[in-house]
Amino acid sequence: MAGLPNFSLPHGAALVTGASSGIGQAIAVAIAAAGAPVACVSRGHVDQQETLSLVEAVGGRALALTADVTDPDGLADAVARTEAELGPLAYAVNNAGIGAGGGALDLPLEDWERVYATNVTGVFLAAQAEARAMVPRGGGAIVTIGSISGHIANRGLRQAVYNSSKAAVSHLTRSLAAEWAPQGIRVNCVSPGYTLTPMNARPEVADEVERFADETPMARLAEPMEIAGPVVFLLSDAASFCTGADLVVDGGFTCW
Ligand SMILES: NC(=O)c1ccc[n+]([C@@H]2O[C@H](COP(=O)([O-])OP(=O)(O)OC[C@H]3O[C@@H](n4cnc5c(N)ncnc54)[C@H](O)[C@@H]3O)[C@@H](O)[C@H]2O)c1
Repeated sequence: MAGLPNFSLPHGAALVTGASSGIGQAIAVAIAAAGAPVACVSRGHVDQQETLSLVEAVGGRALALTADVTDPDGLADAVARTEAELGPLAYAVNNAGIGAGGGALDLPLEDWERVYATNVTGVFLAAQAEARAMVPRGGGAIVTIGSISGHIANRGLRQAVYNSSKAAVSHLTRSLAAEWAPQGIRVNCVSPGYTLTPMNARPEVADEVERFADETPMARLAEPMEIAGPVVFLLSDAASFCTGADLVVDGGFTCW
């Protein structure tokens, strides 16, 4: 019989994009708690002190790095600095993304391109930079953050650009999983449902958030840490036969 499943992260350093707030912040903390030192990558103007303090509070080690996920050189530099300061890159989570709406009939091309640059190209470029470091060492594990919006068109929300960008994340994940399996890299996606990040905690969206909860079998939104658990699972050896999976974490929202 194979060994018992191991849910910890003992093989090296981790990198998380968009780790300054919300889901990415929770993921960085959960990864540190599972045993890996974690590089928290965010854009230049973003303060990462809160994430660093939360990682320290669980006894972990974090490094704040600056890179925009639309910039391949910045990402390559972030990977190199992660390896120089925290050790070989074994785990990565490509979480940075932007929400965006707007009716399709009037959507300006620049809005479309801005969302795709971060949500699709950014996820690809980050995975490429990470895999270039992982391949010479025989592999690693990457998780992308999609959305239920890549699986369904959210009722009442006009956001074709966001929905289609997240569907692209799901299929990019499957494509990279198939391509990099021979090199020992597993690539999986976590597709969250509505989650209580700062974006959804604003008073002006309170009515909308109440509707999201009503339309969810579990009758509430996710806490960011409830997304981080499935991410850590997919990074860990407990998921050693998972690649190309797309784990929907939505309290049952897409069941209805
Ligand atoms: N909150 C939800 O309900 C929800 C649901 C499904 C999926 N998601 C996805 O989860 C991910 C995190 O969302 P969140 O709600 O925590 O949002 P958030 O705005 O709190 O966090 C997004 C993070 O990404 C970073 N970021 C954005 N653009 C970047 C860029 N070009 N380069 C580097 N970093 C960049 C931001 O600085 C921030 O740290 C996103 O991909 C989002 O689409 C969120």
